[in-house]
Amino acid sequence: MAGKWRRDFEILDDTVHGHALVYLDNAATTQMPRQVRDRIAGYYAHEHANVHRGVHYLSERATGALERARSHVSAFIGAAHPEEVVFTDGATDSLNMVARGLSDIIEPGTAVVVSDLEHHSNFVPWQRLCAERGAEFLIWRSHDGRLSLSELEALLAGHTVKVVAVTQVSNVTGTVVPVTDVAALAHRFGSIAVADGAQGILHEGMDASASGIDLYAFSAHKMLGPTGTGVLYGRRDLLESLAPSRFGGGMVGTVGDSETTFGALPYRLEAGTPNISGIIGLDAAISYLEENGLDEMRAHERELTAYAVERLEALDGVAVLGHPELRSSIVSFELAGASAFDVAFMLDKLGVAVRSGHHCAQPALRSLGVDSTVRASVAPYNEKDDIDALCDGLARIRKMLGS
Ligand SMILES: Cc1ncc(COP(=O)(O)O)c(C=O)c1O
Repeated sequence: MAGKWRRDFEILDDTVHGHALVYLDNAATTQMPRQVRDRIAGYYAHEHANVHRGVHYLSERATGALERARSHVSAFIGAAHPEEVVFTDGATDSLNMVARGLSDIIEPGTAVVVSDLEHHSNFVPWQRLCAERGAEFLIWRSHDGRLSLSELEALLAGHTVKVVAVTQVSNVTGTVVPVTDVAALAHRFGSIAVADGAQGILHEGMDASASGIDLYAFSAHKMLGPTGTGVLYGRRDLLESLAPSRFGGGMVGTVGDSETTFGALPYRLEAGTPNISGIIGLDAAISYLEENGLDEMRAHERELTAYAVERLEALDGVAVLGHPELRSSIVSFELAGASAFDVAFMLDKLGVAVRSGHHCAQPALRSLGVDSTVRASVAPYNEKDDIDALCDGLARIRKMLGS
């Protein structure tokens, strides 16, 4: 039964303001199961050392654990080779590395396309890059949370587009963007396809080789892992040509007085000491997902998400924002007569954790015609009871506000 996962997340047994915690802020950060926390603690207790630079026992153990993690991530996302997995600080870091690394091909007369459903971390780096390089920054517009491939095709047909960068799942509307179709279309017009998998990796998954996506970014902390760790996947030939944007230890070949050569993949893109415990935690999170029925988890999440939409739409005064064809794990809404901030604040007093604001996606909110939303988002350990608690809380707030 679905409830079996919940017992691995002790934090969910906590009380908040005298109420049982109902955690529906998973799009911001998911909770970590005991198995992941134990693995990280075990690393610090028995394996902690710097990697790649020592010949002593501990350094070799830490290096072995890190490289096993790389192979595991590689298999999990269907990469063709482990060196196609670069460890970063998170999705934001990965996307900034991509935009910086591709800067040479973004010239006057060329363009980059992003959708208006992007998180700022897959919007601002490209906007900045285009401004710096004198290239066009084109926005693929959504309509009530839906994106049309024919509108993307029209943009590609009318410009010299070098990069199409889209989210796999919108962190505002939950829209599942058909990134495989986007990649095929981008390739037809000679563009590189970049996907932001921060909200997609846990709930939808990624088969990188089969999808045709050229570059893919995600964060460990949105897939039951720790904060401060992320991944940049890239096709090997593309990563080999990506210019490093961070320089320092571990990534060089030879450092001369006037010139430096860079090392082989993936190290040429991994300057400095990596977040070793975070990477080991990511490895453990993937093991947890694989060993505990990932397909079943995703089916459970789909059912919960549909239930949340159905219950919220039936509530007086609640308007769900965005109606994608396919929705993944996220529902944004407004409550008539109350600001999103006030709703989230009052729900918190009832023990229900949701997020309010623009969710670092202001263009997406503009497309929906609002300044802020309340956002509820689910993970495998949530239950229908959590959605009921959210809806009961909203009904209480409506009553308190006298509406
Ligand atoms: C769609 C999307 N992309 C990127 C990010 C950035 O992730 P991080 O803050 O882990 O770098 C987020 C975080 O909320 C997100 O939802």
